[in-house]
Amino acid sequence: MQASAIAHPNVALIKYWGKRDTGQNLPATGSLSLTLEGLQTRTRVSFDPALQADQVSVNGAADAKAAGGVVRCLDQLRAIAGSRDFARVDSENDFPTGAGLASSASGYAALVRAASAALGIVGHEAELANIARQGSGSAPRSLYDGIVLLENIDDGIACRSVCAPEDWPLSVLVAVTSRAPKSVGSTAGMERSRLTSPCYRGWLETHPADLQTALECVARRDFDRLAKVSEHSCLKMHALAMSSQPALVYWNAATMAAMQVVRDLQASGVPVFFTIDAGPQLKAVCLPEAVPGVKAALAACPGVLELIECTLGRGAREIAQ
Ligand code: DP6
Repeated sequence: MQASAIAHPNVALIKYWGKRDTGQNLPATGSLSLTLEGLQTRTRVSFDPALQADQVSVNGAADAKAAGGVVRCLDQLRAIAGSRDFARVDSENDFPTGAGLASSASGYAALVRAASAALGIVGHEAELANIARQGSGSAPRSLYDGIVLLENIDDGIACRSVCAPEDWPLSVLVAVTSRAPKSVGSTAGMERSRLTSPCYRGWLETHPADLQTALECVARRDFDRLAKVSEHSCLKMHALAMSSQPALVYWNAATMAAMQVVRDLQASGVPVFFTIDAGPQLKAVCLPEAVPGVKAALAACPGVLELIECTLGRGAREIAQ
């Protein structure tokens, strides 16, 4: 009745920002992401008939904020397995939590993998993705390898890998510019944009074409065109955030400086592009041969505190205890 799993965060190239059903946590749009080996959540789940309630700790401390979503996921997994036991959940991140590095995605992916293994659930992959999605809309993407597509289907989402890590070994350098938790999380931020940004309608109208273009780029390994459509999706998402009321500005001065570094590298022909989620960290996606140059340039950028080197990685998986 116990199992452990690891999962990596993911970074979206074609972003999810806004829900079509807030109660069910259903995204308004599909999305396309990279699973990032190099950052890791490790979660252990132990079901115990002696427990009176589920207990959740993140990085060694009880976490009441995470508990509601965790219990919802556990309830659905217990229903599949026909179990009534409560569980102890211990989760550790080897990177800053809640700072725009997708800790909720890797957290829910590791939780669903570990808890389903502990309950002896075999198969049920589509249900597991939809259970993870209720914890965090980006979490199902961390269940899968490499480049991952999340699509809306009638009453939920469907998620799958569209390119294995070894088939297009992209690198991602995460430029950490702040370790502080963000002031407005993604859930509240995207709801504010949906309700108040005049750009939201345009986002919904143009998003399917961006996703289609990006999928074609992945199929053809067309890095330059993928760079353009990914930066476009990222900047459109931040335009939504910035045009919300009150405004959401997730960037700091170092984020902007790092963006300029990437643009300068691009101008000199280096295969690299940037993407930024709901936080101030910049992720530079590049071809492997460009890593040393991109690393050196970002390391020299004022305000960049740390560089984390990632490759495309595998989806969430059970590990030995
Ligand atoms: C900016 O998945 O964290 O990273 O479903 O409300 O938990 P909730 O949101 P979450 O949002 C991710 C937003 C993003 C873009 C992306 O990853 O697609």
